[in-house]
Amino acid sequence: MANRLTQAVTGMQEWFNDRAPSFGPFYAKHMTSYYAPKNFNIWYIFGVLSMVVLINQIVTGIFLTMFFKPSAAEAFASVEYIMRDVEWGWLIRYMHSTGASAFFVVVYIHMFRGVMYGSYKKPRELVWLLGMLIYLVLMAEAFMGYVLPWGQMSFWGAKVIISLFGAIPYVGTALTEWIMGDYLPSDATLNRFFALHVIALPLVLLLLVVLHIFALHEVGSNNPDGVEIKKGPKGNRWSSSAPADGIPFHPYFTVKDTFYTGCFLLICAFIIFFQPTFGGLFLEHDNFIEANRLVTPVHIKPTWYYTPFYAMLRVVPNKLAGVLTMFSAILVLFFLPWLDRGKVKSWRYRGTGFRVALFVLGICFVWLGKIGSGPGTDPVETIIGRFLTAAYFGFFIFLWVYTAFGFEKTKAVPERVNGHD
Ligand code: HEM
Repeated sequence: MANRLTQAVTGMQEWFNDRAPSFGPFYAKHMTSYYAPKNFNIWYIFGVLSMVVLINQIVTGIFLTMFFKPSAAEAFASVEYIMRDVEWGWLIRYMHSTGASAFFVVVYIHMFRGVMYGSYKKPRELVWLLGMLIYLVLMAEAFMGYVLPWGQMSFWGAKVIISLFGAIPYVGTALTEWIMGDYLPSDATLNRFFALHVIALPLVLLLLVVLHIFALHEVGSNNPDGVEIKKGPKGNRWSSSAPADGIPFHPYFTVKDTFYTGCFLLICAFIIFFQPTFGGLFLEHDNFIEANRLVTPVHIKPTWYYTPFYAMLRVVPNKLAGVLTMFSAILVLFFLPWLDRGKVKSWRYRGTGFRVALFVLGICFVWLGKIGSGPGTDPVETIIGRFLTAAYFGFFIFLWVYTAFGFEKTKAVPERVNGHD
């Protein structure tokens, strides 16, 4: 029986190889012959988890689209219908809404890991830039998705964020009306956001993710020691020309990633079944009330993943300056590979200044996030927010001065990755 099965599988492989000879080598290049550093730790699972969440969003999104009505008159009621009447509709919807927040959790950790281990440095600048483009598109995708259920926060959030474009001199007002297709968020806005959210941006995201992985596989993965395994000794038990400190991605890391994906899905399931709104963080309470252009919610605030940037917008007194500060805070990340002139990649061997600065950056980001999700009426908090914003930008200035003028005292980087035997 087993023999017959093997024969059938080999037969099918031959059938495919005859018709598509490049499939086999393509699979090998990215899976069985992709040699990843053997010292990957838990920080290296978040790329794969981002892919898992992306697939979840696409699959659950397809089912939501079957029942959702993209019109201002029907959208809110159609979401209620999904929650109450559609078989398993509540589960699909909560998987999608929890997935949106989970996406940002794993992507933020994935980005932080990149900074910890200097993964944006040569030769991985392109991997980083593509990652940053993914991040931008992801922010737009989540924003448009949040508008669709047409709750109070969908409407007022859209109004506040789109109105930011009004701060641009000369063209601001016209641009705002062009984006909304009206003077306020309306049916036209909902229609176009639906089109962008369900097809245009997901396609761009998928393309960018494929390019991100291809770009990474050209140069090979970095690792917690920041040692280039391709430059080290050659030859392992699978190939004489492969890096000695690399092991095949499949099956070694696919097994490890599958285990961690299971743990991650358990945590997500717990949230979906027991805390789907996550205390108003994942789904805001005001969004369970239908949009009403005559009633403004007491606190208009974006979802948690935007709040650090939203806080920057609010603490700067001038609207245009606030908008510029907010966008610069994201833009500056694109330049990280060129701002950081340090020779050493991983924080394990970098100067104390870098480690302290990165820690401070993390604190500033989380604290700003907290300020951005509050009412924004406390003057003391506004002052603190200004300091934190300055400290956020200070990180990048410090990093450039610290590394470009030779202030950084690094430790000796090992010749090979830790635990290479
Ligand atoms: C949909 C979102 C994303 C997906 C699916 C994704 C996927 C992946 C995967 C599978 C890897 C290889 C495994 C790993 O190193 O964890 C990776 C590596 C990497 N990603 Fe992403 N990524 C995403 C977003 C981002 C973002 C937003 C950035 C940064 C701006 C980024 C920067 C990087 C870098 C620098 C590496 C190389 C890491 C190394 O070799 O040390 N990625 N990504």
